[in-house]
Amino acid sequence: MLGRTATPAIDKVLEPASPALRVTIVLDPETAALLDESRLALPDTSVRIFAGTLAGFASNGPMVRATDVLIAQFDAENPREFEEFERFVQAHRNHLPVIAAVHGLTVALTRKILRSDAVDVLPVPFTPDELHQAIETGRHQMLQVQPQARMRGGRILTFVGALGGVGTTAVASQAALIWAEKQSVCLIDLDLQFGNAALYLNLKPQLTLADLLDAGDRLDAEFLRSVADKHVSGLSVIASPRDMMPLDALTPEFVERLLDLAAQCYDVVLVDLPGAWISWSLSALQKSDAICLIAGLTVPGVHQARRQIEVLEANDLGDRVRLVLNRIVTPMFGKADLSQAETVLRRKVNFPVANDYPTISTAIDEGKAIGSIKVRSRIEKDMRAMVADLSSMIGAEQAGPR
Ligand SMILES: Nc1ncnc2c1ncn2[C@@H]1O[C@H](COP(=O)(O)OP(=O)(O)OP(=O)(O)O)[C@@H](O)[C@H]1O
Ligand SMILES: [Mg+2]
Repeated sequence: MLGRTATPAIDKVLEPASPALRVTIVLDPETAALLDESRLALPDTSVRIFAGTLAGFASNGPMVRATDVLIAQFDAENPREFEEFERFVQAHRNHLPVIAAVHGLTVALTRKILRSDAVDVLPVPFTPDELHQAIETGRHQMLQVQPQARMRGGRILTFVGALGGVGTTAVASQAALIWAEKQSVCLIDLDLQFGNAALYLNLKPQLTLADLLDAGDRLDAEFLRSVADKHVSGLSVIASPRDMMPLDALTPEFVERLLDLAAQCYDVVLVDLPGAWISWSLSALQKSDAICLIAGLTVPGVHQARRQIEVLEANDLGDRVRLVLNRIVTPMFGKADLSQAETVLRRKVNFPVANDYPTISTAIDEGKAIGSIKVRSRIEKDMRAMVADLSSMIGAEQAGPR
């Protein structure tokens, strides 16, 4: 199966016609380059090759959520890689069967690997038969997983402001109300210190993010649902803690677990993220299918947005970023000229949102959608265009209607 003449198969998906078991095989780039992808075809199975490391795969939240069975190559003789593998398998043991793929497999290594929660072990290089058998073991394991624990495949969108006060929470909460018209949606307020998403929706939640944090190991999908407060629109909201908390009260592991659970429970998960970069910001961003960077049309606002884009690009997240320019003063006819801002930003403004303080502030005061405050307003039109575009970007429609 692995031969010198094989063509590289990197990030290619072999799709069958019917809905299928989604298998991802993580292989180091040299091994991936030798793989003959034409030998991967299996009935009712789509196989994706990820040429890279398990850590690289693990940090790609959208790809993890689009995987039903994972085959991961790693160096089992390397203690750091072994530990990384064990940690990944442990963290996903309730919803993602993982098969280890290892060079130079020995009986001792096989035993060691099977003592972790891995469901099978595959030698590298493997034959088509060995691969098919491993996939069947994974398929069988996947079917044992309780339906509620299976990855629902909900999409995650994070809203982050380039500067404070640019309207991140207003845009996120109003976008959430639009999404909630058609799908099950949860808005999670991770702004531990200044979070006011619940307030903007006129909710007074009994439980908050602090209760999820206190739950420790008891944090599961059911508990998450019970903490979420329901807006009359059907939107679920996980409010920020009532008492101000230090930003490092959250850990990357907690944020990853929280977002994984939320994506299991809801079609669309929206996150209101504080603008400051903290240890767990990257965890939330890596889990996200899309990142909405909100900026205002001021000189410091645009420059700060450029700096945030640079950090996101340096973390390989540039292609997930969509730029929202909020509070645009639109001319009576035509569109506002955003060309100067786009030059500084070196990026297209994806979503201009009109400045309309009376409408949005009334909506916030009453905890209602802007559309119910003023019909056919420019700001509502802009928000709806943003939601529609983001939905198709992340394939949110496929996550299921409410
Ligand atoms: N498109 C808009 N037109 C007019 N006013 C707006 C618009 N969007 C937001 N605002 C107003 O801007 C103010 C700040 O909004 P918001 O609290 O959402 O900002 P934020 O970026 O979340 O702030 P923080 O950094 O404190 O979290 C609010 O008074 C809100 O009404
Ligand atoms: Mg805010």
